[in-house]
Amino acid sequence: MKIFVGIFIIFAASTAVRAATKAWWERGNFYQIYPRSFKDSDGDGIGDINGIAEKMPYLKEIGMDGVWLSPIFKSPMVDFGYDISNYTDIHYEYGTLADVDKLIKVCKRLGIKLILDFVPNHTSNQHPWFLKSEANDPYYKDFYVWAPGTINSETGEREPPSNWNSLFRFTAWQWSEKRQEYYLHQCLIEQPDLNYRNPNVVQEMKNVLLFWLDRGIDGFRVDAIPYIFETQYENGTFPDEPVSGLCSDVNGTCYLDHIYTKDLEETYNLVYDWHDMLVNYTNQHGGDVRILMTEAYTTLEKTVDFYGNPFGRVGSQIPFNFEMINYINVNSTPADYKKEIDAWITNMPKGTDFVPNWVVGNHDQHRVVNRFGVNRGDAINMMVQMLPGIAITYYGDEIVMSDLWIPYNETVDQLALNMGPDDYWAVDRDPARTPMQWDNTTMAGFSTSKKTWLPVNPNYQKGVNVKDERLKIGSHLNVFKKLVRMRKNRKVLQDGSTVTIADNNLLIIKRETETLQLFVALNFGTEDQDFVINDYFVPLKKLYTASVVSDNLNIRQGHLIRPTDKIKIPKDAGIVIE
Ligand code: NOJ
Ligand code: MG
Repeated sequence: MKIFVGIFIIFAASTAVRAATKAWWERGNFYQIYPRSFKDSDGDGIGDINGIAEKMPYLKEIGMDGVWLSPIFKSPMVDFGYDISNYTDIHYEYGTLADVDKLIKVCKRLGIKLILDFVPNHTSNQHPWFLKSEANDPYYKDFYVWAPGTINSETGEREPPSNWNSLFRFTAWQWSEKRQEYYLHQCLIEQPDLNYRNPNVVQEMKNVLLFWLDRGIDGFRVDAIPYIFETQYENGTFPDEPVSGLCSDVNGTCYLDHIYTKDLEETYNLVYDWHDMLVNYTNQHGGDVRILMTEAYTTLEKTVDFYGNPFGRVGSQIPFNFEMINYINVNSTPADYKKEIDAWITNMPKGTDFVPNWVVGNHDQHRVVNRFGVNRGDAINMMVQMLPGIAITYYGDEIVMSDLWIPYNETVDQLALNMGPDDYWAVDRDPARTPMQWDNTTMAGFSTSKKTWLPVNPNYQKGVNVKDERLKIGSHLNVFKKLVRMRKNRKVLQDGSTVTIADNNLLIIKRETETLQLFVALNFGTEDQDFVINDYFVPLKKLYTASVVSDNLNIRQGHLIRPTDKIKIPKDAGIVIE
């Protein structure tokens, strides 16, 4: 079914009322850029900093307040930049520090905040710190987690210090011939874990933050934060983790219950310290608040602890809300959606300093439409934009890009390769990292090169690209732009209360202030459903559609709806009514 979607912006006097002044990030629309895939400015088939700068006006056009970049730093690229060999220099394929300075200027001129990825858990095994640590240099010796392991008395063979396994499969310990010890790597072998029990490591990483703050960066997305500390006994040994019972794959991360390698108490104070450091920085240097966004796939309770603790310590402004990513899929019911939305709002700390956020996609997940349902791209964007707080969009989700199937022998994501050819697809991250689709020229306008680092999804020729969608009324992009505009301009979306209702096929989100109401009704069910406003809400005197429609929606955009009118909302479609 083809879905046309559109929103009518309605002029009601009341909507002119502006929300009270808020910090720039509090109702922000954030956009994630995967630098390798956004825009190639120099024709090598790989996205770069100048490409990002060139496209920044587009992010302004679609109403973004902040953008976060996946890592741009010097890296051997085993994990495409999450293996950093120099935190304060730029990877050569992406450009130079001077290019970043230019990008910062462009962002400042456009009023878009720029956030960098901060990867504190591990460096690359090519980082000079690691090379020196491996060589037992006195200052760097304890920068990483080293242990000799044990000799098995029966076999006489050396064995790793514990049974810990890596997020990327297999043991988390790698033997170093040079140092004659094992080092810990919770991610890839090429990503040794830093040792946060060493105060010098803590200081060096603070220096990294300061370096970027001084260059004019507005905040940091903090990578893999739950893995930063591990339990080590005083005698230097590491306790084995119990079997989780969650899966039978002995090499998989799911095999063990990570009570000694994940979510340790100390993690939170470290994040709160970074927060305090950013606050001090702003106090000393002026300018707008610098923020933290934290990446933690963990329980809801442990995620919201990153906001702060009951003793007044504050941490991340945006602890990524992965509830939808973790628990919602194509088979989820409207009640499931409701449950996840409500759970976040109920469990997050109360108070004006704490703002919810909504994440549906990123560079580690399959594309939104491949997880939530092929025709639901707009409905999901509607949900995110109409919910309170902070909306986060992964590049390309505004034009509804979809996964590209890539055969195993052309796969470059190491996580997928570690799974082997039979099972790689489930975890493969390449499909959602394909080049941004800008127009309908060769390579979707991403690059002039004949070969790009990942192939371009051919659906760019079928209208899935910025240029074509810009021109087409009711395109995904135009729906997205209208949603963002509405979100910026409507007091009810800024400050209104939020009520969710699950009714058969519909998820209804109602936003309300004393004088205003706005509803979004999303059909996340299995069949079309009639919607009568009277059934859910006190009828308003005047009700306008602001609507997402599909081929067989029985109302037209911009039409007045009476409380008793029956609107048929097709499966996968959504409407916004104010
Ligand atoms: C989380 C990042 O999002 C992912 O892409 C990366 O592979 C791991 N952390 C390791 O840094
Ligand atoms: Mg390039």
